[in-house]
Amino acid sequence: MPHLPDLTPLLSWYAAHKRDLPWRATKDPYRIWISEIMLQQTRVEAVIPYYHRFLAALPDIGSLARVEETELLKLWEGLGYYSRARNLQRAARQIMAEHGGTFPRSYEEIRALPGIGDYTAGAIAAFAFGLPCPAVDGNVLRVISRLSCYEKNILDSSSKKELTEAVRSTIPRDAAGDFGQSLIELGATVCVPNGAPHCDRCPLANVCAARREGRTRELPVRIKRGSRRKEERTVLILRIGDRVALRQRPRSGLLAGLFEPLTLPRLLDANEVGEEISALGLTPLHITPLGEAKHIFTHIEWQMTGYEVILDDACERRLPEGLLLAERDEIDRLFPLPSAYRAYRAFM
Ligand code: ADE
Repeated sequence: MPHLPDLTPLLSWYAAHKRDLPWRATKDPYRIWISEIMLQQTRVEAVIPYYHRFLAALPDIGSLARVEETELLKLWEGLGYYSRARNLQRAARQIMAEHGGTFPRSYEEIRALPGIGDYTAGAIAAFAFGLPCPAVDGNVLRVISRLSCYEKNILDSSSKKELTEAVRSTIPRDAAGDFGQSLIELGATVCVPNGAPHCDRCPLANVCAARREGRTRELPVRIKRGSRRKEERTVLILRIGDRVALRQRPRSGLLAGLFEPLTLPRLLDANEVGEEISALGLTPLHITPLGEAKHIFTHIEWQMTGYEVILDDACERRLPEGLLLAERDEIDRLFPLPSAYRAYRAFM
């Protein structure tokens, strides 16, 4: 889990510098919910008039549950993503049917409502009920990844999970709501998404790892799935007796200096593997397919297929330069292997 510094200076900063936004003046879960759904795809300034108009027309869960769909969509007109409005009404009806018209008070019950994801459930639970739940949106991901110099792709769900757990572990029990809002506020006004962050105004500047290392411009890492380059790899576990051939990767670049089995840069079938091995001057006795695997790096995705190749004992003297032979227990103790090879590790 990424390491976070002490974030408590955020609370006094928030008290002094927060924007005066209408949904911050209430603990009513209904109002907070409406604001968070509106804020999902729309800027704060654009949301404010919609927020007032919507709540004037539909001041509570019951009125939202009952309103005619055309009137609802009219109130939403201009905000876009109309499924958000329809989901609001479905959720309001569910609250009427299943919770007697009272907004549920636990994270799990809130998260179970239509149109409410992890972020929105955390936001309502923390802002309305003071529950120690993380509310991690894009703003917060940016702030946290800079504070901790987090180098993984924040668009991966595993990264989001890790950063969410890091936030969870730092929530002050007596100020969960303001703490969650303060992270959002810092991301919106100081640790901004476009252009350089305003570190001169940041209450956490002196504990921020990205700032200390001069990396605020590179972080967070955001790489869309499609922009990963796919590379093919055939992984060959060359075995002579109880030893396996390994080589060291170049000192720079991807996985620099780590050890790996012989790996060829395309996907080969068993016949082609036999030909490649023979072309290296080696004699394969037996070739066993080990199956396919995938490994995702930040910018690259390896699509792998693996084979175990049993070699004649006499091959030891003819091994290509750079390959060494190691027993399993030597590999375990002495040779760092990238986790990209995890699928084939059991055969080494
Ligand atoms: N964006 C999402 N939630 C917000 C909030 N509660 N205040 C300001 N901006 C937000």
